Amino acid sequence: MTSPADSPAQSAPTKHQELLSWVDEIAQLAKPDKVQWVNGSDEEWKEITDALVEAGTFVRLNEEKKPNSFWAASNPSDVARVEDRTYICSEQEVDAGPTNNWVAPAEMKETLRGLFDGSMTGRTMYVIPFCMGPVESDDPKFGVEITDSAYVVASMLVMARCGQKILDAMGTDAGYVKCVHSVGAPLADGEQDVSWPCNDTKYITHFPETREIWSYGSGYGGNALLGKKCYSLRIGSVIGRDEGWMAEHMLILKLTSPEGAVHYVTGAFPSATGKTNLAMLEPTVEGWKVETLGDDIAWLRFGPDGRLYAVNPEFGFFGVAPGTSYTTNPNAMRTIDKGNSVFTNVALTDDGDIWWEGMTEEKPAHLIDWHGNDWTPESDQLSSHPNSRFCTPITQCPVLAPEYEGEPNGVPISAILFGGRRKTTIPLVTESRDWQHGVFMGATVSSETTAAATGAVGVVRRDPMAMLPFMGYNVGDYFNHWLEIGKQADAEKLPKIFYVNWFRRDEDGSFLWPGFGDNSRVLKWIIERLEGNAEAVESPIGRVPADGALDVEGLNISEDQLAKASAVNVDEWLEELPLIDEWFEQVGERLPSAMRDELETLRTNLDAA
Ligand code: PEP
Ligand code: MN
Ligand code: NA
Repeated sequence: MTSPADSPAQSAPTKHQELLSWVDEIAQLAKPDKVQWVNGSDEEWKEITDALVEAGTFVRLNEEKKPNSFWAASNPSDVARVEDRTYICSEQEVDAGPTNNWVAPAEMKETLRGLFDGSMTGRTMYVIPFCMGPVESDDPKFGVEITDSAYVVASMLVMARCGQKILDAMGTDAGYVKCVHSVGAPLADGEQDVSWPCNDTKYITHFPETREIWSYGSGYGGNALLGKKCYSLRIGSVIGRDEGWMAEHMLILKLTSPEGAVHYVTGAFPSATGKTNLAMLEPTVEGWKVETLGDDIAWLRFGPDGRLYAVNPEFGFFGVAPGTSYTTNPNAMRTIDKGNSVFTNVALTDDGDIWWEGMTEEKPAHLIDWHGNDWTPESDQLSSHPNSRFCTPITQCPVLAPEYEGEPNGVPISAILFGGRRKTTIPLVTESRDWQHGVFMGATVSSETTAAATGAVGVVRRDPMAMLPFMGYNVGDYFNHWLEIGKQADAEKLPKIFYVNWFRRDEDGSFLWPGFGDNSRVLKWIIERLEGNAEAVESPIGRVPADGALDVEGLNISEDQLAKASAVNVDEWLEELPLIDEWFEQVGERLPSAMRDELETLRTNLDAA
């Protein structure tokens, strides 16, 4: 057996010396049996997925139903992002801010060195060169993920642009974000592996100053596919702060009006609140067309014309499966039906396909559930974990906008939406008065928690810009960065900011607004506002649609229901004010004074109402 210390350089497909020595250094520490560079070829995909089938991690799905696709079930304890084990290790604690866990970088590095010492023994150490965003862009952002998980390799190959073409583009000296991942389950000589290796000890750590990510103990998406949340949001937000752009938890969509006018819109919504559905919705309003550019992450940079341009750094969708169906999101279904996908913690059908709650009205008579047990409709357990996921190539999406690949520097943004999941208070749609007011809306977004992270479900918490779990630095500085971006542009070139809520409920608990494809009606009003063709009225919280301005033709909604969905209820807002006060207290001394000014304006407006 050759030791990895026998210089990976011999077989390494790059002359990037600094990268080679870093890979060598990690191999010396983690002591894998061998080192394999991921090249992104079809043969390699087959080799890796075959090996995963052999290991029992993957079950190959029926070729006719889901070609080249796989089912996986995780360890039942490793099903979601672990926010309480996620750290921002900045030099100064205050730079991580009050919303992130913090440990000093030197101390965390020492802990990690202990954990990673020999953590890959008995396994292959894969080296995945990747690029977030098109490699053809003016400023490609590279990363290299080292991992001992073949599941992570397969998933990264779907979610990011990976392989030899990236190494080639990096040349001999490109900068890159160092991403180190281990499931933390070394194998003794001859020890039989389990289908989902992981460790009860978990660390998802970020070093903003040195642009490094170290992740230990979990194989789950957001904890382990390090190009996604860890790089493109946490480290990305820090790079964006330093370089004058923004990394945001946003979908990107393209809207075309019946007259052929094109607008690009981004939207920030907390995890598991319908971002993927909205990103590729089928509009119910006549003549409007929606195409998608992304469902989770947007990088916003100024273009030469002074407008903000959005790029989706990702290459796939990692969507919440339950509730996805031909009714709620037909374009996601069409995307996964083309195959080449990985499904985790959903149920397996008897004919080798997958199923999850909400996929079809009629439940299959028999399934293997995500625990690997027999399941029937009489079962009192869910067949699929509420945070089960599909991982599927974005290029398979039938409504992918051609700009996704055709415009490597992104598309100019006309509007930004903020939204959360709230039963009360937040009306269907509100237009901000100006950028600063819009930043205040984003800074005070609140939402009920979901299964996308471990912990209680349904608790209202502030989730500013839907970035609470993803900000790589101090939240007050982050708000300030938003304000600074606004100051850098001419007001008329900035996107207009809107606050939406699809989830308001009636007293009986039923949803007031039908959502899904009918959200296109709200998008239509927003675009018409941008073009000066729709009416709005001033309210204490911003501008809301004038009576009759929202197109509800053909929609089965009573006037009373629509009024309740859209209402600015002053009493509810008066109850919201102390919650915002409390939130701003929590943000602390780095809260920009402009945010307090906006809160006082809101208070004054509500008092006068
Ligand atoms: C993830 O956790 O991998 C993920 C995609 O995040 P989210 O919770 O935002 O869906
Ligand atoms: Mn997300
Ligand atoms: Na939760």
